Amino acid sequence: MANDYGKEAPLSYNKYLRVPELIDLQTCLSSPVHHDELLFITVHQAYELWFKQILHEIDAAVVSMKEDRIAEAVQAMRRVGEIEKLLISQIHILETMTPFGFSGFATN
Ligand code: HEM
Repeated sequence: MANDYGKEAPLSYNKYLRVPELIDLQTCLSSPVHHDELLFITVHQAYELWFKQILHEIDAAVVSMKEDRIAEAVQAMRRVGEIEKLLISQIHILETMTPFGFSGFATN
């Protein structure tokens, strides 16, 4: 993308990772906004991103196995295992939300 001086702007962290769009995707629906709703949305969206990555790794592992590149398949599946460890520990963040906190926005 050209900047004010007609030159190509260097690709920034924000542009490459589309941080503004990402940060804009957590739309709380409760009214008035309940404090815990942002946590609920953030944790679930993070899960969904990691699920996407897991599928990406499994697809790559299947191709590697079909082509007898076993070490690469193992590497991809190791990565899946590490992601799953992260997903399990992420549950503890949601556990800081009480049933009362959940019902505060889920019944809206
Ligand atoms: C505090 C933790 C959680 C609570 C209180 C909770 C609550 C719920 C509720 C009430 C529903 C039913 C929504 C409906 O159809 O009316 C639901 C569905 C669902 N939840 Fe959770 N959830 C939690 C954690 C998670 C986590 C960690 C995931 C993983 C990403 C997840 C994924 C899903 C999915 C995929 C559905 C839809 C299931 C379907 O379509 O039948 N939830 N959740």
